[in-house]
Amino acid sequence: MHVIRFRLRRFALMVLAVVVTLLVAAPAALAQKDETIYDEAKVPKYTLEDLDPLVSLDGTKITTPKLWVEKRRPEILRLFQEHVYGKSPGKPKEMSFELTSIDRAALGGKAWRKEVSIYFTSKRADGPKIDILIYLPADPKRPVPVFVGLNFGGNHAIHSDPEITLSTQWMRNDPQRGVVDNRATEKTRGTEASRWAVEKIIARGYAVATIYCGDLDPDFHDGFKNGVHPLFYKEGQTEPAADEWGTIGAWAWGLSRAVDYFETDSDIDAKHVAVMGHSRLGKTSLWAGAQDERFGIVISNNSGCGGAALSRRIFGETVKRINTGFPHWFCANFKKYNDNEAALPVDQHLLIALVAPRPVYIASAQEDLWADPRGEFLSGLHADPVYRLLGTDGLGASEMPTLNQPVMTTIGYHIRTGKHDVTDYDWERYMDFADKHWKE
Ligand code: GCU
Repeated sequence: MHVIRFRLRRFALMVLAVVVTLLVAAPAALAQKDETIYDEAKVPKYTLEDLDPLVSLDGTKITTPKLWVEKRRPEILRLFQEHVYGKSPGKPKEMSFELTSIDRAALGGKAWRKEVSIYFTSKRADGPKIDILIYLPADPKRPVPVFVGLNFGGNHAIHSDPEITLSTQWMRNDPQRGVVDNRATEKTRGTEASRWAVEKIIARGYAVATIYCGDLDPDFHDGFKNGVHPLFYKEGQTEPAADEWGTIGAWAWGLSRAVDYFETDSDIDAKHVAVMGHSRLGKTSLWAGAQDERFGIVISNNSGCGGAALSRRIFGETVKRINTGFPHWFCANFKKYNDNEAALPVDQHLLIALVAPRPVYIASAQEDLWADPRGEFLSGLHADPVYRLLGTDGLGASEMPTLNQPVMTTIGYHIRTGKHDVTDYDWERYMDFADKHWKE
């Protein structure tokens, strides 16, 4: 009797101990796991050996440009489509363009300003459509090379020019900036201007074109009811399949539609289109440039996780964090890699490699640890063998350069002082880079 009671007590104590351990230790372990790594010493051991850009899935060594182009590149593109960004449709058959305004005396006479709408179906009024804003040097003597990128706040936010059409699309509320009831007001004009060096770009002989990302897909998770996704649903389909495009896919798709337009505009040199994007829109510019080889230069500004940064480092933002905070950005399959980066069949150096041999520029900012500057640099470094195989000088640095010391090889890179943002310093480097690759 005594013995049984003793055993029962011991059993109860053991159960209690297990429960206490679970209650105390497990959340602690979880918290530790989800803790953001901002210290290089805490980056766990990881390998990219299974993701060698120059070894095919079947083990073939990629030793010639032909093998890269015909075998390895398509295979990597497919992996990104299936597991990361999702597959996108092509160019809509019924797409059409409309020049909605032109001003040949914009910006004090220095520029021409055009606004162009792109419609995707013959029933124009039903939408969705995208509105491109273009500034080009006034009275161009020949077609001008162009920088194109999406913006966060509507075309009218990129410059204080009062003639830019005010966006009527959904926008995240921001009363301080002037977004009320999810719509822009006059107050929002120019609120993003510090990120668009319009005058400087014009002065250096380039055009600049931009589209509000929300024209393609408003940046919130609504199960893909708004935006361009429903235009492509098959009969009975209500949301993209697990390997079909999310919001970043739709944004990138829209940038390609802008190139479709440039090809019809004799003022624009559609053979010299540089795609540039910041942050979530930098992830987008890389994905656009990876898929569409008409982008002659591809620029990532502080693109971070799901952009230029290597996912396996789990430094700063992680796959799980991004898929939780922004469940609509990537394809549903990408969620399989939450806390499971080692299983990813690609990492972001392979995204950079998809741009090869075209010039690609990766820019980081010193204080932008969330985006993992070193991980952004390393993607460029690990893409270098592909760039070299294709006959370019690749990345002219084996170590991260010091602050504000740009590397201007075919893979360009800089880390500048300051925070997560686009500054004139960044734009000046992008123009130096374009001058170097297109003008010299
Ligand atoms: C968040 C997000 C990043 C993204 C950034 C931005 O910080 O976690 O992935 O790049 O927003 O787009 O500004």
